[in-house]
Amino acid sequence: MTFFSDTLLGQETSHTRPPFWLMRQAGRYLPEYREVRAKAGGFIKLCLTPELAAEVTLQPIRRFGFDAAILFSDILMVPHGLGQKLWFAEGEGPRLEPVTDPAALDLAGIETALEPIYTTVRTVRAALPNDVELIGFAGSPWTVACYMVEGQGGGEFTAIKALSYTDPAKLQAIIDVLVEASILYLTRQIQAGAGVIQLFDSWAGNLSARQFATWVIEPTARIVSALKAKFPHVGIIGFPRLAGGNLLAYAAETGVDGLGLDTGVPLDWAVKAVPHHITLQGNLDPLLLAAGGPALDQGIDDILTASKQRPFIFNLGHGIIPSTPPENVAHVAERVKFGKAA
Ligand code: CP3
Repeated sequence: MTFFSDTLLGQETSHTRPPFWLMRQAGRYLPEYREVRAKAGGFIKLCLTPELAAEVTLQPIRRFGFDAAILFSDILMVPHGLGQKLWFAEGEGPRLEPVTDPAALDLAGIETALEPIYTTVRTVRAALPNDVELIGFAGSPWTVACYMVEGQGGGEFTAIKALSYTDPAKLQAIIDVLVEASILYLTRQIQAGAGVIQLFDSWAGNLSARQFATWVIEPTARIVSALKAKFPHVGIIGFPRLAGGNLLAYAAETGVDGLGLDTGVPLDWAVKAVPHHITLQGNLDPLLLAAGGPALDQGIDDILTASKQRPFIFNLGHGIIPSTPPENVAHVAERVKFGKAA
């Protein structure tokens, strides 16, 4: 067990600071990532080439000394594994051929097509120091379904919302495949050496309470209970981004050990309102990390203050943006990890 995992599971540790990592800590803001990315010949190839994916997973650990590495992959590797056509258009983000027939999705691909990802996990675990955790992850079914139905991200998600109201059985069939696929996929990651799991629900916002219960809480709870039954000591962090007033129901009903907070969640509210058996994670503004300066120090201080109130993992409120100066990340590491003064 690591300091990171102990904190997530609410166990006492001897540390006086929170463990820290940053969402998208591997990526385009690092010159060494851009170098490997250029040589990989495509983002999907990078995700499916274990030596290269392991290398970019480890780069930010070497540079900044995070308490956890996160497997380098993408939430869209699950639809890819299920046989859906996926590509990354340069400068435009992901594109998929919208799913029409849920029955055509093939669960076997999670074992076969995604096998290189499990090799990456094994390679990274073997290379990491014992006290550095390895986080495996998947997108939550709702967020992955958003991409599968829309064929892309961003926008208002009109196609999936229309489907949810006019043909909920069809959306349920897609979600059910994703629940099974996620359980298989995360089981394989844990067996290969992931000691903590994060479920990314980037598009959990803009759902009514009723829809949130059906499409976010229920499928997430099924994944969490299946994993907990097999791996009770593997902590699970849920990140229901922009969930707003649905956040407390998520915390109470999904069974997650940790709750990832987006930038808009007031920490003094969360510290009081979220059930106390849950470890909080977040929520420095990624744009503040990119901006740096005295405002960044104030943002770091706010999180360090909250982290003294209850078990807490220092992180961003969403992923690092590509224009972030690496020096700013080094500054956060020095302040959080080594207690350097502002
Ligand atoms: O360092 C890490 O956090 C691990 C790797 C990781 C990536 N994507 C690498 C990546 C993780 C955990 C993700 C999760 C992911 N992917 C999410 C959930 C988190 C979030 O950001 O909301 C989502 C919604 C995706 C889907 C996705 N993948 C998008 C929208 C994009 C394009 C966005 C962009 O910034 O260009 C990707 C591509 C992607 N995934 C990149 C990286 C480093 C950039 C691709 C490149 O190098 O060309």
